[in-house]
Amino acid sequence: MQERLEEIRSQALEAIKSASSDKDLENIKVRVLGRKGEVTLVLKAIGKLSAEERPKVGLLANRLKKDLEAAINARKKALKDVHVSTFIPGLDPTLPGRQRRLGRLHPITQVMNQICAVFERMGFIVVQGPEVELDFYNFEALNIPPDHPARDMQDTFYIDDKVLLRTHTSPIQIRAMERQQPPIRVIAPGKVYRCDSDITHTPMFHQVEGLMVDRDVSFAGLKGVLTAFVQQIFDSNTLVRFRPSFFPFTEPSAEIDIQCVICKGKGCRICSQTGWLEVLGAGMVHPEVFRHVGYDTEEFSGFAFGLGVERIAMLKFGIDDIRLFYDNDLRFLHQF
Ligand code: PHE
Repeated sequence: MQERLEEIRSQALEAIKSASSDKDLENIKVRVLGRKGEVTLVLKAIGKLSAEERPKVGLLANRLKKDLEAAINARKKALKDVHVSTFIPGLDPTLPGRQRRLGRLHPITQVMNQICAVFERMGFIVVQGPEVELDFYNFEALNIPPDHPARDMQDTFYIDDKVLLRTHTSPIQIRAMERQQPPIRVIAPGKVYRCDSDITHTPMFHQVEGLMVDRDVSFAGLKGVLTAFVQQIFDSNTLVRFRPSFFPFTEPSAEIDIQCVICKGKGCRICSQTGWLEVLGAGMVHPEVFRHVGYDTEEFSGFAFGLGVERIAMLKFGIDDIRLFYDNDLRFLHQF
């Protein structure tokens, strides 16, 4: 009887394999597994076997039943798939699938991350502060008096007399110093707002602020840190120039220029024929600022710096209109 079962199995499997329609499969099912089917007959005859053989053959017959049912279903499914791909007009199953477009970081985010990474390698820690800021942190604590032109309604978005959208990241310096005593070494990236719009200005842009305070922090240290920064962000031979300048919250103050990345100092439209590009504002923290946060001006000194991320990104990528960053044109954004 076991031989008979094996015979049924191989014949049925052969038939299932060559079946070409659901109807064929249905016929095979009836012939083998139906009420008078081949397997059913074997099961019916089991009673005539010895007590010893009965369970063995019963087991085999049931297993065969299950296997054949599975084979029939699998063949059914295979026939259906062939059907879909071969017979739906206009469907070409050999075409490649649709590509899923991957998202990516905005060029400003990429440059901001690079800038932060350079300072983090030098031991600076990233801190943040609110974009809706108090006049006190944005101006007063930074030694910017009430009649200072930076407070002009033309530049600053005021919410009310005391609340505004921060115009720079420098208020984060004050918040960081309020929280802890020196030594302090932080950078603060973020959005800032000024009422200004043309090919080099957008009402919202990004800055990264830096602050280092400790005993014996010197202007030479500032030069070292910023030169290392510029040479890592641009080229390791980029020339750097420190020019005297003025900020109410630093004394002395400087603006830092790099040799024009476009013309290499020869003079071009981008650098207004000067051969130099301004990239950073910086200086030694003004004692008046330390007084506002209760730092001992006899014991500690510090430097601060600030830079515009869009400006760095424009120079790095050779982009001449800042508004391209915020038009959200994928043809532009995909290039980074
Ligand atoms: N906050 C200044 C600006 O927005 C930049 C700056 C930061 C200058 C820190 C000196 C020190 O222009």
